[in-house]
Amino acid sequence: MTQVVITRNIGETAVSKLGQTDIRFSHNESDVSWNQDTLIAQSSKAEAIVCLLSDQMSADVMDRLPNLRLIANVAVGYDNIDIQAATERGIIVTNTPDVLTETTADLAFALLLAIARRIPESDSFMRAEKYTRFELFPDMLGVDVYGKTLGIVGMGRIGTAVARRGTLGFNMPILYSGRRRQEEAESELGATYVSFDDLLAQSDFISVNVALTPETTHLFDYAAFQKMKSTACIINTARGPVVKEADLVQALKEGLIQGAAIDVFEFEPKMVDGLADIQDKLVVAPHIGSATVDTRNKMADIAVGNVMAYFEGKRPLTMVNPEVYDNR
Ligand code: GLV
Repeated sequence: MTQVVITRNIGETAVSKLGQTDIRFSHNESDVSWNQDTLIAQSSKAEAIVCLLSDQMSADVMDRLPNLRLIANVAVGYDNIDIQAATERGIIVTNTPDVLTETTADLAFALLLAIARRIPESDSFMRAEKYTRFELFPDMLGVDVYGKTLGIVGMGRIGTAVARRGTLGFNMPILYSGRRRQEEAESELGATYVSFDDLLAQSDFISVNVALTPETTHLFDYAAFQKMKSTACIINTARGPVVKEADLVQALKEGLIQGAAIDVFEFEPKMVDGLADIQDKLVVAPHIGSATVDTRNKMADIAVGNVMAYFEGKRPLTMVNPEVYDNR
């Protein structure tokens, strides 16, 4: 009987470790995610599921998988899983923190630089063979990064890593907002804790690094964009619904802000109508924050390691709801 189902291709390195144990598992080696009925049919007897953030693990799905005791998400975020429902059903949930922090911060900074210096427009210009003579290119002027103010919305692990790049690499003063003060970031990076409105008003670049919760859903709406500097850029590598995407389209069209660099989308994998039509001042990427060979292998390793720990009767390392394990 299959004890573990891996819902998508997570790479051979981690899976081969599972293959060296007595644990019976199946691995969907395709890169296409299952729909919900297939996931349930494939996992009907499974005690553990290794899944990705595109697998919606709702209370209903859990109720249809009576043997399920562990969900190992191959992601740091876990808004695809109903944690309360899992906890109530005695299902342990694990994620993959830390290993993707620097990789995701790298992407946030890559996007920041790309939007500031209009790299996509420059790239398209070259490919269209429009570079026939050197000019000052008034239509392609960007904004400076060095010394500009970086606002971090959500100074957690990734937010702090983005801030570190800003202050150490680019001499950027750091503002941050969030639920609580982060004294370490203040002493290490000289970051200043401000209200969300002050952050909007004072930042030249805003990096979104909050988890998706009811409080952060649509944190960036039209009213928020109105409070930003018209020369400011927003970079979102966190979760799409933190930004109300239709309002972003409007803000970009009306020139309320300078630009947006977006790796995550409100209705992922789709973009809202009108977003893709914006040619300038927009950089988009298909949720690639953690997408490097090393980091993806490490994430898969953690998820599989948690599964192995569970079957060996050991404590999984990165539990989101450790109370389930502790109260067994
Ligand atoms: C990616 O978005 C993750 O949460 O790991």
